[in-house]
Amino acid sequence: MLERREEVLEMEFGDWTSMGYLLSAALFIFGLKQLGHPRTAPRGNQLGALGMLVAVLTTVLDMQLEGGAQWTLIIAGLVIGSLIGYWMAAKVQMTGMPELVALFNGFGGAASALVALSEVWKYLEGGDIPTGLQLTVTMVAAGLSAVVGWMTLTGSLLAMYKLKGGISVFGKWIKTPTWGPSWLNGVKILLLISAAVLIYLSIDDPTNKQYIYSLIAISGLLGIILVLPIGGADMPVVVSLLNSLSGIAAAFTGFIINNSVLIVAGSLVGASGLILTFIMCKAMNRTLLDVLFKSFGGGGEKQSLTRTKVGSDSDEVAMMLDGAQKVIIVPGYGMAVSQCQHQVKEFADLMKEKFDTEVSYAIHPVAGRMPGHMNVLLAEANVPYEQLIEMDEINSEFPDCDVALVIGANDTTNPAARSGEGPLAGMPIIDADMARTVVIVKRSLSVGYAGVDNDLFYMDKTMMLFGDGKKMITQLNNSIKEI
Ligand code: TAP
Repeated sequence: MLERREEVLEMEFGDWTSMGYLLSAALFIFGLKQLGHPRTAPRGNQLGALGMLVAVLTTVLDMQLEGGAQWTLIIAGLVIGSLIGYWMAAKVQMTGMPELVALFNGFGGAASALVALSEVWKYLEGGDIPTGLQLTVTMVAAGLSAVVGWMTLTGSLLAMYKLKGGISVFGKWIKTPTWGPSWLNGVKILLLISAAVLIYLSIDDPTNKQYIYSLIAISGLLGIILVLPIGGADMPVVVSLLNSLSGIAAAFTGFIINNSVLIVAGSLVGASGLILTFIMCKAMNRTLLDVLFKSFGGGGEKQSLTRTKVGSDSDEVAMMLDGAQKVIIVPGYGMAVSQCQHQVKEFADLMKEKFDTEVSYAIHPVAGRMPGHMNVLLAEANVPYEQLIEMDEINSEFPDCDVALVIGANDTTNPAARSGEGPLAGMPIIDADMARTVVIVKRSLSVGYAGVDNDLFYMDKTMMLFGDGKKMITQLNNSIKEI
């Protein structure tokens, strides 16, 4: 027993490093598991951050740095990076979150590609070039890390500007273009083949830096060409795919620098990003190949509006709500913009208190601008999780529902998606149009993200409450209180 204890105490430094990496990998996995439910998600986030801290500390200690200069560099990097990250996360509006995620994906890909590049550079400059199988493995992993990493950087930057809708240059707003003739697919395949050839050539002649420069240029171009044709409703899928790619680039880099935690963390990001990508494809009834190779998803012009509709007022709607036994709230991007989740919760409470109405929420998987957008906002307003019901589950309840209250949702309720044509074709929607009466809160009749006019607004049973979400729901709550 005593001998065993001594053995443990005499563990080599490398063993402690492995233990540190094992601990951080376990923290990542438990954190990821807890992110699966809104109630446990904040804790999951903290566990993931702790895992990253353990991984960074273990790596730095493992480097056994000598001299203050190296420590100064690392600590300065950590402090500056943390401050920028904190500032960006604190400053960002909830509606700007997908752009920030896209930017971070891009930086993740670029960081992995840079680490891989510096490792290869070390060999080239030091003249210590590996031979045989080690050379092949290193060059293939570095090549793949470069392709995926640089492609993720340029693709993510373009995705970020697409989500913003454009870029301001000297005060002039330039719309991000969506352009994708079918011959561009041929270019994508040609670039991929060229990248594979360059990786092959670099194994043959590892000292030729031209191959490295060409690979970086081709990968950057590939990222732009891949995202350029994708528009409108398909953007969330692309952002999630780029997130997955940034993880895959990190895993490749882990192989080059022989770092197990980078391989584990990269694989986790890669796999979870890919799972999310497929979940979103399913939610929009699109295949990943369609998203990547068909210029579709609402990149085109916005449809112009030709019809009109007279608006209702809050007293009228409150009177209609008196006696409703079942109300389903359908939140969308407009709820996020107007930040009216607290007023929405108050509305649900009032309906229960005053009219004993059963209220639930219909959650579309891509409502808003990021996965889980509605859940996060409603959880912030303390809406009970049991009342948030996924689209597939709640759709069958609309025919028995007295009122569907649509708050700032548009594409996710647009019956045009059932027609099989246009940018929303095939996207499953919330069946709000099946309810006995529909009330829609938005500022105008204007189109949603995919640019398609919405028949739901013009149905006889639909009442429009025109105005900002927060203002209109507050007015509606006041009208209900007066009944
Ligand atoms: P959208 O189709 O984007 O429509 C939102 C509506 O909110 C707009 O028509 C707008 O109409 C209204 N609105 C804006 N500001 C408002 C305010 N202050 N008060 C009240 N209403 C306001 O919303 P959706 O149904 O949630 O659909 C989401 C769309 O975004 C889908 O096409 C989806 O594919 C796409 N998308 C989703 C994600 C993820 S992952 N969720 C990411 C990127 C893109 P008015 O201007 O008339 O007020």
